[in-house]
Amino acid sequence: MKIFLDTSDVDVIKHHYQTGLVDGVTTNPTLMMQAGRNPVEVISEISSVFSGRGYRIGSISAEVVADNAEEMILQAEQYHSIGDNITIKVPCTYEGLKACKALSDRNIKVNVTLIFSLSQSILAAKAGASYISPFVGRCEDNNIDGIDLISSIKRVFTLNSITTTNILAASIRNIEHINDSYKAGADIVTLPPKIFEEMYKHSLTDQGLAQFDKDWKELNK
Ligand code: G3P
Repeated sequence: MKIFLDTSDVDVIKHHYQTGLVDGVTTNPTLMMQAGRNPVEVISEISSVFSGRGYRIGSISAEVVADNAEEMILQAEQYHSIGDNITIKVPCTYEGLKACKALSDRNIKVNVTLIFSLSQSILAAKAGASYISPFVGRCEDNNIDGIDLISSIKRVFTLNSITTTNILAASIRNIEHINDSYKAGADIVTLPPKIFEEMYKHSLTDQGLAQFDKDWKELNK
């Protein structure tokens, strides 16, 4: 059960990485636009946050933007040269799937994104994707049951013994999306930092803590 952060904000990533609870990062062109900096530079910085003893760990998804597989592969090579924890994100299109197959044949990890159907997931797994990203929130926006989609993907992958393609729930907007995604069988959920920060909070924890503090002070008076 892994947690990724869905952001291009390097300072926020560094901050939360210190918890030891963050296993990776996903980015996309919109998040890069928000960062407002050179994407290769941003990905390099994120990649080096995730460093083990002399090697890089985790998975940092960097998205290619092109309308043909050849151009996607060229961009992927540039990102891949940054470090061994880089995952190339491609859209679930005909060209994106071609690029996925070519890259995964070279042992480059690929995340196929913008998944909205079971059939897309099946093709992405066939193309050797290490990750597929069903978009839970955007499914909901369009009256598609995103959680049911994750359950169906999980079922088909299990029935077919597909163990090398991880289900990475994306477009997460609230805590229910996180809980329901894991319950439906997601291997990873990628979270906007604000939602990650909400995960540990509960009013009863705050109330209980206030009482413990009060009693502790009473005891030590
Ligand atoms: O992980 C994908 C995410 O960045 C898109 O989220 O809320 O724009 O659909 P959202």
